[in-house]
Amino acid sequence: MRVIVEGQKKCSKAEVILPGDKSIAHRALIIGALPEGQYTIRNFPFSLDCMATLHCMENLGVNIEIENKELKVISKGYKNFNKAAGVLDARNSGTTARLISGMLSGLNIEATLIGDESLSKRPMNRIITPLRQMGAAIESDNSLLPLKFLKGTKLKGITYTMPVASAQVKSCVLISGFLAEGSTKVIETIPTRDHTEKMFKYLGADIEVKDNSITIANSPIKSKDIYVPGDISSAAFLIAAALLSDNSEIIVKNVLLNEGRSKYLHVLKDMGANIEFYEDKELNGEKIGTIIARSSTLRAVNIPKELLPSIIDEVPILAVLSAFSTGTTEICGVDELKYKESNRVRAIVDNLKLCGKNAEYVENRILVFGEDNYINKEVEINSFKDHRIAMAFLVLGVRNMKSTIINQWECTEISFPNAVEYFKEFLNIQAWLY
Ligand code: S3P
Repeated sequence: MRVIVEGQKKCSKAEVILPGDKSIAHRALIIGALPEGQYTIRNFPFSLDCMATLHCMENLGVNIEIENKELKVISKGYKNFNKAAGVLDARNSGTTARLISGMLSGLNIEATLIGDESLSKRPMNRIITPLRQMGAAIESDNSLLPLKFLKGTKLKGITYTMPVASAQVKSCVLISGFLAEGSTKVIETIPTRDHTEKMFKYLGADIEVKDNSITIANSPIKSKDIYVPGDISSAAFLIAAALLSDNSEIIVKNVLLNEGRSKYLHVLKDMGANIEFYEDKELNGEKIGTIIARSSTLRAVNIPKELLPSIIDEVPILAVLSAFSTGTTEICGVDELKYKESNRVRAIVDNLKLCGKNAEYVENRILVFGEDNYINKEVEINSFKDHRIAMAFLVLGVRNMKSTIINQWECTEISFPNAVEYFKEFLNIQAWLY
């Protein structure tokens, strides 16, 4: 399926509430279902990635009912999960694969974890190494999926210094650490999103966050209802489209404003964006608020590598925004993007060049030579079946006087089902599926 965007200038003013944040939704199912009991997950996003986690949890014996867009979860508790879970399919979802692996190892569950073509190429040595250090019995060829979890002995806590800045790896080690004997300490050199820490704390776990380390130990935890705030990484695309369009304003309400995720908004401010945001509540330990973004004239920015983990999913859309900002934007520390749903470094640079924009990859950096202008060329973007590449280049379409076509648009169901409808309804973007 393709989408075609006609970049005619349209004005719009709208208010939107988005489906729940993907990262929190995964944790609401995986960590939320560890204690025995019943709870509700509100504003759960029915995206393919989150459904992959939902089905894995069902295979482990957790009962999940969908009622009025909410999930009712009934768990027998981790001690009573199925000890032989068969084949678990993480599909396209790296978060599902890494977090579920921590749980399977920690509970000594026999299972085979598989994924789609893209996930089967992504590195799993980053979780196999710490899990084996804890005593896990995992078989795999070349540290790639499928991973075979064998019945082993109870894991032992470790101290683990993260070799890569990855919230998925940190979360894997914390989940297995919670289920292991003794305590587990994770040391981060660069901070990454902390939803796992917040979820464990909310449920009452013995977890301590101090400077750059997190220590967790097994402790009693209780089922609690969870509200999943609007996904700030989906909002990122709508906000960007408003910034690049004439006479536009978008107000995003009930959106996640966790400090490890809202750095994107600070970068936009540095680029001169007309944007405001404020927190108005906190639910299950997560900050929630409102973002108001309006049409803007943007300037180039320098993004240091220390910031990268906090904006990792927003690099494609920041690169598109930079292409229409005056000056040269430098995004440092981008090599980790080569191991995402596609090689995003290549996808960004190649597609920007295809649109007549100038961008380069040089030693762990993307350089975008921006100009505040309109493209005037029909283009067909290769999404590489990567949801964030597809949506970033749909946004580019608002600055193209001719048609922008994006192939394999269906990949956006991974994180943002019906995304086109949101762009049409709330930003007046002329887009059609065909
Ligand atoms: C995620 C962490 C990030 C991010 C992904 C979701 C998470 O991956 O890219 O979309 O939910 O923990 P890494 O931290 O492994 O880079």
